[in-house]
Formats: sequence, C-alpha cells, structure tokens
Amino acid sequence: MCGIVGYNGKNSVTDQLLDSLELLEYRGYDSAGLATLNGETGKVKLRKCAGRVTDLRKICHNDKKISTCGIGHTRWATHGGVSDLNAHPHRCGDVLLVHNGIVENYEELKDHFLLHKELKSQTDTEVVAAVLNRFYNGDPHEAIKRTVKYLKGTFALVVMFVDQPDVIYAIRNVSPIVAAYNDNGTMLASDVVALGATAKEYIVIPEYVITELHREEIKMFDLAGRQIHPEFIKIDWDTTQGGKGKYPFYMEKEIMEQPDALKATMEQRITDGKIDLSSDGIPDEVLCGCERICVVACGTAMHAGLVAKALVQSKLNMHMTVEYASEFMYEDPVIDEKTLVLAISQSGETIDTLEALKYARSKGAKSIAVINVKGSSIARESDYVMYTVAGPEIAVASTKAYTTQLIALFLLVGRMAKARGIFDDAAEKEYLENLIQAPGKMQEVLTRKHDIHKIAREMLDAKDAFMIGRGLDYSILLEGALKLKEISYIHTEAYASGELKHGTIALITENTPVVATVTQEKLKDKELSNIREVQSRGASVVLLVREDFDLADAEYADVFTLPAMSDEFMVFPASAALQLLAYYVSMDKGLDVDKPRNLAKVVTVE
Ligand code: M6R
Repeated sequence: MCGIVGYNGKNSVTDQLLDSLELLEYRGYDSAGLATLNGETGKVKLRKCAGRVTDLRKICHNDKKISTCGIGHTRWATHGGVSDLNAHPHRCGDVLLVHNGIVENYEELKDHFLLHKELKSQTDTEVVAAVLNRFYNGDPHEAIKRTVKYLKGTFALVVMFVDQPDVIYAIRNVSPIVAAYNDNGTMLASDVVALGATAKEYIVIPEYVITELHREEIKMFDLAGRQIHPEFIKIDWDTTQGGKGKYPFYMEKEIMEQPDALKATMEQRITDGKIDLSSDGIPDEVLCGCERICVVACGTAMHAGLVAKALVQSKLNMHMTVEYASEFMYEDPVIDEKTLVLAISQSGETIDTLEALKYARSKGAKSIAVINVKGSSIARESDYVMYTVAGPEIAVASTKAYTTQLIALFLLVGRMAKARGIFDDAAEKEYLENLIQAPGKMQEVLTRKHDIHKIAREMLDAKDAFMIGRGLDYSILLEGALKLKEISYIHTEAYASGELKHGTIALITENTPVVATVTQEKLKDKELSNIREVQSRGASVVLLVREDFDLADAEYADVFTLPAMSDEFMVFPASAALQLLAYYVSMDKGLDVDKPRNLAKVVTVE
C-alpha cells in the first residue's frame, strides 16, 4: 500500500510531487508528506501531516518553490497510528526516506542497532532510516547495500542523503517502483499513473537494484556494482485518463467507461470472427494440457474467478477451484504440473496473489495472469499474461477492471473449448455473438442510471442489507455486496438464497432491505419463491430481473429490468446495475466514494 514518488528536474519539485501524490492517493490516504532538497543551498524542507494530499498542499502553500529534487509519500498505516509523526518522509541524520511495504524485523533491528532513543515515531520505516544513517559515511551505495542485507519483508525505499542534493536513490524488494523520463526531468513512483502525462515509456526497477535518479539520467546498479540497463516499457494508454473528467468521482467515470473498455479488451482477441489469443502468446498446448484449473485472486478479482468457474464447469466440464489468494497456501492446495493457475489482479501487485502464484509455480503448475497494469509484478511472474484494456482504474472500488477481467476470462474459456474440440465453429460463433453484445447491454443499463439512483435513495438509512440469488446470480451478488459495503458502509451479506432457511432468514425482519437478482432461466422459479419467503418475513425487496422473465403479479419495493442475454452473459448488465446502486448510495450519503475508509487500492502487504 502507500504511494511513493521522487522527482529530480527543472520544475518546482513541490508542485510536481503534490500532483503525483494526488494521483497515487488511491494507494493510501491516511497521511501525506514530502521532503525537498535545494541543490544550491543544501537546504532541506520536510512537510508532513495526517490527512489527505489536499491538507499537505495547504501546509506547503507558502513554500518558496525553488527546490528541484524531492521525495513524497501518501500513507496507508501499518505500523503506528495515523499521526503527523508517523507520516513519511522520515529523517534520521543525513537520511530522508519514504517507504512502501512492511519491514517485518523492525523490532529486532531496533535492538540490534540500539536505536530506541533516537526514534521518534512508531513506524518500521524510521528504523530503516536510522539504520541507513548508521551506515552512511558519504557513500550512498555502501549504506544502502549494508542496510538492505538486514531487512526482512517487502520494501520500496526512496532515499535522499542531505549532502547529495542532486541524486535520489531507490531500491526495492517485491513492492513496486517504476521510473521514467519526462519533459522536465526524471521521476520514480509506485505506479505509472503518477509519472506524468509526458512520460512515454517507463522502467520497472528490478528487485535489489540501486537506482540513481539524476536530473537528466536514470542509472541502475546491481549489488555487485555492475551497471544494468533494464528494458523500457511503452506507455500505450493515456495516463491523463487519470482525471475525473465531467464526473464527480472516478468511480462513476470508470463505471461509464465499461462498454469501451470491454470492447477494447475483446477486439484485439477476435480475428475473422474467431477467438484468437495469439497476441497473448498463449499456446493451445497449455489450454489442452491441463486437467484442472485453479484461480488465485483477492476481492473483486476473486469474484471474477467465481463467474469463470461456472463457465468452465458448464462449457468445459472441467474441475475448477477458486481460492482466496490470502488463504491459498494454508490449505495445502493440490497443485501439480497438470494444473493451470489463473492469477487475476487489476494492479498486478497484490502481494497475496503474487505469493500464491509463486507457490503454484513452484509446484509445477503453468500460469496465466489476467492483469490490467502492464509490467506489474504478477504479470512478470506468470508464464503468460492476458492484459485487460481497462485503462487506469483509480477508484478503490473496482468496476471496469472486474468486467474486463470477465471478458478476458470468457475469451480464455471460449478458446479452451475450441482448442479442446468442445466447440465447433458454430458453437464458437454463437458464444462470441453473445459476448460481443455485452458492451451494448451494459450501456443500456448505464443510460438508465437515474432509475437506479431512485432505488438507491431508498437505501440510505439501511444499517444492514442482504443480496440473494442462486448459482451465477449468487456469484454476481457477492461482488455487488462487496461494492455496497466497501463504499456505503452498509453491512451487506450476499447469500445463496436456497441457504437462507438454514439460519440466516432469522435476520430478516420488517423492512430489511434485500436486493435480489433473477437472471438465470433455469433458476428463476426457485429464486422467485425464495424471494417470497423473505417478503413474507417483512423484507423490502429490490428486484433486478431479466426483462423477458414473467413476474406474474407479485409486488416488490422496486424493480429494475435488465436487458436480456443468455444466462452466462447476464453478469454484464447485472453488474452495471449493482455498481451504480452502490455508487449512488455512497454518493447520496455524502461519503468519499473513491476513497472509502480504511482501504487502499493496491494491497501490497499480507
Ligand atoms: O489489484 P487486485 O485486483 O489484485 O486487487 C484485489 C482486491 O484488493 C480488489 O479487487 C478489491 O477487492 C477491490 N478494490 C474492491 O472493489
């Protein structure tokens, strides 16, 4: 978690850092800080505070904007509460440091280096700054090398030494750092979005490589002192898409971008009316050679895996498991060289997913990653990568990343079915014809967003809510419930509606809000009778129902009809409706939709 940035160039560093930190705030937004170093005077300015980057901007308001070298940080607290003191950068003697990650042995290091008296904060980061300072005698490389030998855990460290005012140093283990040139200097950051609109290509700093950010060049050295030259990756999406445009929140913009993102993810993988994964370089032998599939992912990405599971089992008749990546290794998973592991992740940096993938590969599994952020750690660690073409997703609540992951997974399953001889040309054609309709069907829901807004207004006072459905509807609702709870703070449970009677129906009382989806032809009758059961206990039911289903004359608190598609594809219009519902509830409650409390967009700590 946490966003880090460094800039060395011609522009006022304060402005540059503040702008980049704002773009990185989705990684953490408990506190923010920056340190600048004036090359001519050698003067250091350290500003930090609990709160948002806007608060930091206020305290930097009167600073003279002459320094051109500096580092910045936006925090998601791990060690030590949210306070000015615990905010980064940390200064110890000649060292100024920002950090993303967790140094697990920081208590040991305090004892080993007898640091207790000199530390002011409760953070693991200040311990690293103090160790660096202990080792620093004018040679930054030596100090960094000696320090990292002692560190256990994950870290992206960006350092300035006060007597080296023209260079920023960085080193990392697991936690990402990217670097780039832009029109006015050099930059590094946790993520490409913060590199500025003029950066056209970037480098992912390799692990345990000391990077020097000079005003006009970026140099990298391995720990043996050999200079290395990593490959640049082209930025082929517009990083300025990071702005909110005409929308009040990123989340709304990202919801509305879905039809285009779905098309873009699909188009490059369809040739002459057939699914073609050649641009992903995934050979048919991999798709045919596996006997089982295992998804490792977290949160929303895991929910995309659940939808894919239904598809794999129905279309491929194959065994598939979907695991929380954070639990995967503790369950003694049965993985071997006949397992195809799918690692799904928007950021490509989720540490649990990364570790689960590495574990599966160590057991001989082949892997395909479904990733949005190019060159990210999970993408690099996997045998093959299918990139989603969602563009930057900034809102913490994932929307377009989820539905583009679904598109990639639908294409993968379709190609597997063809490669395994399950689909003939006609079956492939029919499958693709359905999939191609997904963006349009989502658009139909999005254009009726005001109807969903009206429904959302009825839910503003709810303390608890339930979402019920069966089969694929249940998987869709798991994601719908996550959306509602994470941004509206309404406690929401998605429940398999057939299970209600085995306990949970005891929680349904007069006016309990229940959102039900009924989108599956083969399940609709059972789903509708489960809805009547909760209604009989007083529930206020919002029904999201496929437009071609007959509801007889039953009454509901609200009904929103979803454009009809074949069962498996209904996830697209239904998800759009659920995303909008969560969005409007959060917005009308006056919450910070894009930055819900306690969360961060990228979860790089276990
Ligand atoms: O970057 P990832 O897709 O690996 O992130 C996984 C989860 O943290 C993420 O999907 C999270 O659940 C969403 N932000 C929720 O909307």
